[in-house]
Amino acid sequence: MSVQRRPLIAGNWKMNGLRETAIPLVGELATKMNTAAPTSFDMLVCPPATMIDAVVDVAYETDLAVGGQDCHMAESGAHTGDISAQMLKDLGCSYVIVGHSERRTDHGEMDDVVRAKAEAAQAAGLIAVVCVGETEAERDKGITIDVVAAQIAGSVPPDSNAGNVVVAYEPVWAIGTGRTPTSDEIQDVHAMMRGKILELLGADEAASIHLLYGGSVKPSNAVELMGLADVDGALVGGASLSHDDFWAIAEACS
Ligand code: PGA
Repeated sequence: MSVQRRPLIAGNWKMNGLRETAIPLVGELATKMNTAAPTSFDMLVCPPATMIDAVVDVAYETDLAVGGQDCHMAESGAHTGDISAQMLKDLGCSYVIVGHSERRTDHGEMDDVVRAKAEAAQAAGLIAVVCVGETEAERDKGITIDVVAAQIAGSVPPDSNAGNVVVAYEPVWAIGTGRTPTSDEIQDVHAMMRGKILELLGADEAASIHLLYGGSVKPSNAVELMGLADVDGALVGGASLSHDDFWAIAEACS
């Protein structure tokens, strides 16, 4: 973690959360944020689209940020069932996740689509959380670095800066499995990512853009993972559904 980049702890609730569970969950986090203020980290929750409005209502007047889990690349139009970045902004979101591996797998989203969505997010005034990460087969072939570098080159828009993009490294095989790469492996990938951003966007962006790690982050490994030099926070799935676990992960950044 660096002094320059304030840690960001982001929760991806995925397709979880009905009013009965989501409102108390965000309520607990909002209370903790207010009680702990000023915190030494930023906190973001990304509920399913159906819960964003209610979650924003609870998070209002706290430092808890709210984001979407995906957006369409177009501003508006004939795209039944889709949600635009502008709509998320209109609801009170400040972030949106794009290119999560579950979107890449379930919906066949390739780098060019992810980049177009990130550009739409940026154009709407949102911070795009662009996800990258290798599959287990790619890791076994020893091509993790090449795969992640190519995803960054293909998915991160050319006009990106610390104010409109965050990049999250999430090895696909570590998501929801309880397995993680070693700390050295994570740091090596993150250092490469920062180098790639330097090459693509320049030194200021490389120094200031947040790089999150995601994939089986939990309270028991958070202190070690959040202590790595080029890890600026976490994208948390399963553990973000427990306010105690999510808060414990955030406190690992203190
Ligand atoms: P996990 O998910 O923390 O449950 O592994 C991370 C993610 O998919 O963002």
